[in-house]
Amino acid sequence: MVLRSSLKLSAALKSLNPKHVSKNLLISEINAPKVSEKSLVNKTENIHLSQAFYNGKEIDKDKLLQDMLVYEDFLTESEEKTLLDEIEPYLKRLRYEFDHWDDAIHGYRETERLHWNEDNSKTLKKVRDIAFPPDIAQLAHVHVLDLAPKGFIKPHIDAVRFCGTTIAGLSLLSDSVMRLVHDKKKLYTADVLLKRRSLYIMRNSARFDYTHEILNEKESVFNKKEVPRDRRVSIICRNEPLPEFRD
Ligand code: OGA
Ligand code: MN
Repeated sequence: MVLRSSLKLSAALKSLNPKHVSKNLLISEINAPKVSEKSLVNKTENIHLSQAFYNGKEIDKDKLLQDMLVYEDFLTESEEKTLLDEIEPYLKRLRYEFDHWDDAIHGYRETERLHWNEDNSKTLKKVRDIAFPPDIAQLAHVHVLDLAPKGFIKPHIDAVRFCGTTIAGLSLLSDSVMRLVHDKKKLYTADVLLKRRSLYIMRNSARFDYTHEILNEKESVFNKKEVPRDRRVSIICRNEPLPEFRD
């Protein structure tokens, strides 16, 4: 299954030094998707903002909290298992990559998937329905990223050429901590607790104005509490790049 001529997704998607993100970028604001189910409460207690958000008033914390959403227990245990059952045979054939010092990701293997079995398609449809408004064009391929227990993701902004306003990620097998750091005002940071089986939605300002990273096992702490890391598989849906960035 070759989906891109040479799969170097992490390199293609990300730039460690996101210079090319235009300052004048006009991001069409998207409305919060309409979700009726009561269980899908956005868990702001899973987001810990740095003191700068409370001291300084340069950056609106409510804006960030609108644009970074976490839903705990989004997946049931059985949905998590069914997703893994489908991707594991393929992932197992790949080797974790550790030694490319310039990669945005350390200790990972990854793939993209277009076709999913019926149960998993239903699960992914739930993700897409909550993360993207109906009129937004989504990338058909789903990105599967497998981080080894010692794996981590360095700060980066996903390249605007490959991804639009919204990134929606499921976390499987392990809790982890994602850190957002404002790209221009580095004191404005947010730690996000990504529990196993949670869904996060990172969009607009959270996606364009902040780098994101997944902390390594030694730094994996949320609100002074250790968050033990194990192997973590994320399943990520994105929308199409904005028209001005398409090739
Ligand atoms: C990425 C990324 C986050 C995740 O692949 O660009 O930031 O949840 N992944 O795995
Ligand atoms: Mn990313």
